[in-house]
Amino acid sequence: MCGIVGYVGSQSALDVVMAGLKRLEYRGYDSAGVAVLADGGLAAAKKAGKLVNLEKALVEGPLPTGSTGVGHTRWATHGGPTDGNAHPHLDNAGRVAVVHNGIIENFAVLRAELAERGHELTSETDTEVVAHLLAEEFSATGDLAEAMRLVCRRLEGAFTLVAVHADAPDLVVGARRNSPLVVGVGEGEAFLASDVAAFIAHTRSAIELGQDQVVELRRDGVTVTGFDGRPAEVRSYHVDWDASAAEKGGYDYFMLKEIAEQPKAVADTLLGRIDPSGSLTLDEVRISPQELREVDKVVIVACGTAFHAGLIAKYAIEHWTRMPCEVELASEFRYRDPILDGRSLVIAISQSGETMDTLMALRHAREQGSKVLAICNTNGSTIPRESDAVLYTHAGPEVAVASTKAFLTQLVACYLVALYLGQVRGTKWGDEIQAVIRDLSRISEEVDRVLETMEPVRALARTLAAKDTVLFLGRHVGYPVALEGALKLKELAYMHAEGFAAGELKHGPIALIEEDLPVVVVVPSPRGRSVLHDKIVSNIQEIRARGARTIVIAEEGDEAVVPYADHLIRIPATPTLLQPLVATVPLQVFACELATARGNEVDQPRNLAKSVTVE
Ligand code: M6R
Repeated sequence: MCGIVGYVGSQSALDVVMAGLKRLEYRGYDSAGVAVLADGGLAAAKKAGKLVNLEKALVEGPLPTGSTGVGHTRWATHGGPTDGNAHPHLDNAGRVAVVHNGIIENFAVLRAELAERGHELTSETDTEVVAHLLAEEFSATGDLAEAMRLVCRRLEGAFTLVAVHADAPDLVVGARRNSPLVVGVGEGEAFLASDVAAFIAHTRSAIELGQDQVVELRRDGVTVTGFDGRPAEVRSYHVDWDASAAEKGGYDYFMLKEIAEQPKAVADTLLGRIDPSGSLTLDEVRISPQELREVDKVVIVACGTAFHAGLIAKYAIEHWTRMPCEVELASEFRYRDPILDGRSLVIAISQSGETMDTLMALRHAREQGSKVLAICNTNGSTIPRESDAVLYTHAGPEVAVASTKAFLTQLVACYLVALYLGQVRGTKWGDEIQAVIRDLSRISEEVDRVLETMEPVRALARTLAAKDTVLFLGRHVGYPVALEGALKLKELAYMHAEGFAAGELKHGPIALIEEDLPVVVVVPSPRGRSVLHDKIVSNIQEIRARGARTIVIAEEGDEAVVPYADHLIRIPATPTLLQPLVATVPLQVFACELATARGNEVDQPRNLAKSVTVE
């Protein structure tokens, strides 16, 4: 939520910051703004709407050239998406500019105090108080970093703050608590951003900031301290992808590119997981095999698409380890007082590694003494850093708000974790594990084959653009796939879409079926448990008899469904538990094409942001 960029160096700060904001626009696109230090003063511009509005405003009213600046692209929390609420926020004298991601929970109290001291606050945001407090502390100390530390100690909530002051040239100061901020270090220049994508075109050398730390960026170096002023340990790392990975690469949308990247993402996530003896190895697992043997239940916490990956993981974990596995929406988890102890293994799944609901759930789990294993796509992000172990998905940067390749790689990672648990607990033989790994290794090619046959799915989607509702049905692992298909359609096409367990239909939802209502049905393999397959074929007949237009996703060779499918989408035959890896792909393509046909913004659907860093 919200993208932040800061720069100090010898290039035009405005150019660097605007290019960085372009890369971070996926984090929020309600409004955008920039501020640069130039000619002994501070100049700012901000505009409601997408970055393009700000670009136009800067053409009409150019800012002076400076080499120190900050920028922001917003996902509104406090105050609507107006010019006035856009960041940066300035103090009354216009000497300090601040950009913010997160929520300052005690802003009302601070605002009242500032008003009493004669400050005039003009926006509806929580952020503006910080600009005024920083101005006060800077005039008392003459030190922007110290001013930031003093202010941060008074703030409650989650925040990333980045500020510049006209009287502190060549300096950018940032701070973070429970909200992402990374530092990029170049030759004679330095960067601050919510995500490395903002500066990857300039440097791949990055520094992780810890909780409650303040960073000072100068041309010749970076200083990090705690909010208490003590020097902090600096952890540097090398970003292992380059600028081209964050570009559209000839596709109209990032989402299309990311759908197409899935075969590689799946293959990359499997790479290096099997050691020469045939045993599975995972990244940074700081949980001993003995501790894993003592685990008596697994609890998965995640949100949105990652939650659907967790629902699928449950089938694999319970089947391969014979251990109970609960899956919970991270936003609900800590509020229901879950039963956890040192024998529970909590798995937190998150593409971004910054989702606040998931972060809070994992912190709660650790407070109860449980070990936490993160499945994450973003190196150095908060969720893996606060977990006991991490398995990285190697999907590469996912920019489109709708999650696609991250989902498939989360599934691969979940299967690996399930197998690993089976390995250390002895519930799966080595040859059985290797057989599943061989099946997983073939999936990349199968996904490729699915992608090659998507034109009829796109054509079908275009014919449904005027529909109001699409329903999705599935059984077993096909049920979470149905939920994921519905989520994609909601978030991209803004249509009423719902996923159901096919067996539940007769308990109420079947009343929704009417003439020509499109219903997508994910059919399990007839080679798995035939009873499952037979039941869903009956379900298809039931809805068809009531007028539904059936869109059936079934594996090659499944002839039983043919008479009941108004539209048939074929997927390669896979082992039952792995079917979601191929069955989800047509649903991604379907949603993307329907959104396009309805004239929606595919990469930046309304009201959403890629990384949800508020609860
Ligand atoms: O970064 P995370 O995986 O933690 O994000 C979780 C959800 O916000 C995310 O999957 C969301 O549901 C997607 N936009 C769905 O496409």
